[in-house]
Amino acid sequence: MQTIIEPFRIKSVEPIWFTTKEQRISTLEKAFYNPFLIHADDVLIDLLTDSGTSAMSSNQWAGVMKGDESYAGSPSYYTFKKAVQDITHMPEVIPTHQGRAAEKILFSILGGKGKYFVSNTLFDTTRANIEFSGAEGIDLLCDEGKHPSIPAPFKGNMDIDALKKVIAEKGAANIPLCILTITNNSGGGQPVSMKNIREVKQVCKENNIPLFIDACRFAENSYFIKLREEGYAIKSVREIANEIFSYADGCTMSAKKDAFANIGGFLAMNDKELATKCRNLLIITEGFPTYGGLAGRDLEAIAIGLNEVMDEHYLQYRIRSIEYLTNKLVDAGVPVMQPAGGHAVYIDAKEFLPHIPVKQYPGQALVGALYTEGGIRSVEIGSLMFGKYDDNKKLIPAHMELVRLAIPRRVYTQSHIDYVAEVIIEVFNNRYNIKGLSIIEEASMLRHFTVKLKPVTE
Ligand code: F0G
Repeated sequence: MQTIIEPFRIKSVEPIWFTTKEQRISTLEKAFYNPFLIHADDVLIDLLTDSGTSAMSSNQWAGVMKGDESYAGSPSYYTFKKAVQDITHMPEVIPTHQGRAAEKILFSILGGKGKYFVSNTLFDTTRANIEFSGAEGIDLLCDEGKHPSIPAPFKGNMDIDALKKVIAEKGAANIPLCILTITNNSGGGQPVSMKNIREVKQVCKENNIPLFIDACRFAENSYFIKLREEGYAIKSVREIANEIFSYADGCTMSAKKDAFANIGGFLAMNDKELATKCRNLLIITEGFPTYGGLAGRDLEAIAIGLNEVMDEHYLQYRIRSIEYLTNKLVDAGVPVMQPAGGHAVYIDAKEFLPHIPVKQYPGQALVGALYTEGGIRSVEIGSLMFGKYDDNKKLIPAHMELVRLAIPRRVYTQSHIDYVAEVIIEVFNNRYNIKGLSIIEEASMLRHFTVKLKPVTE
């Protein structure tokens, strides 16, 4: 087979800055072992997130120039609305400045004490917005999704029996929404199958629970369905996306992912009454309903990005580039989530660093080592991000201790990725020198963003 190439050429470049290992050791110490606190110029390859970090196309930049900045009724809003509706077929489209703003509005209205939101896996901001409202979030990931090294085609699926059980236990009336995160970011960027979406919808329908999609990576998920699910090979990605959204009553979206935008998001839904409540809150928190916290130029960039992302040459290259890095690591014996996800490579830090107990945050320790070894910034998705304390202040760990290397869209070339693999393998070969970490200072919510840590020295 021929090499799958980047389906674009490069018109504008930005320099990246080199540092020495000694400099990075000092930088990490000054940042309290939390790479969120590092100056981005001190990072060589930034795999912290695929969010807002995409390279926009020349068409999107042209859209930026076309953006109309009218406070109300901007034509850019109508272009944006049409692009969203062509994918979702949902009548109500509400722009927000990013995904979590859509979540904040939705859960402020539907959340509150005594309410439960069920999901395959809620992303951290989604869970935080649910909990901030006083409600509880319940993750019901299928069993295959909980074992990083065992491959399965749709490890993002929801456990249908568990869903039925939770509904029976908590009562359908106390469950305002069921949310499917596609792809499942916190569970390895793994896709959800169309069959699973259909089954979840059926259970929701029987219980009168609306189904919402957290649609950040809908195109990547659709492409996995095309590749892996029987009957979908002949369908276009747009047709597959249309079918996914046809089962949903609404969605939240961060346009910073599968819309190649640097900022933006939206809420879309069928329910007019709920949409009116959302718009009323939007006006207080984000802005008038035809711009919702965005500039007209952003709305144009998102509309164009939503169409570009469904290009199958792009998706083939995108999915292949994640698989390429995953395979290199697998060949070297590095424990990674398999199969490769849609937007990131996930290292199993518990396996990688068996000498570091979970209470010393092996994921965060590995994040630090990748930075000092090669200037690579990654993020822990484990007990630092999702851990809780019991009444005795003892850590209740997360399901998995993962380190995510998220690949920004259309940004890095194959040699950057080869370099990343070399650094990870070097760190793996010297892994027993890595030490665990303990927390010095933390916030009560989303603590991973601002936490301060120090190495454990016994
Ligand atoms: N839902 C999912 C599945 C996400 O991955 C994110 C963001 C959000 C919602 C919130 O969107 O950032 O626009 O407010 N994920 C980023 C990440 C931050 O790095 O995975 P946002």
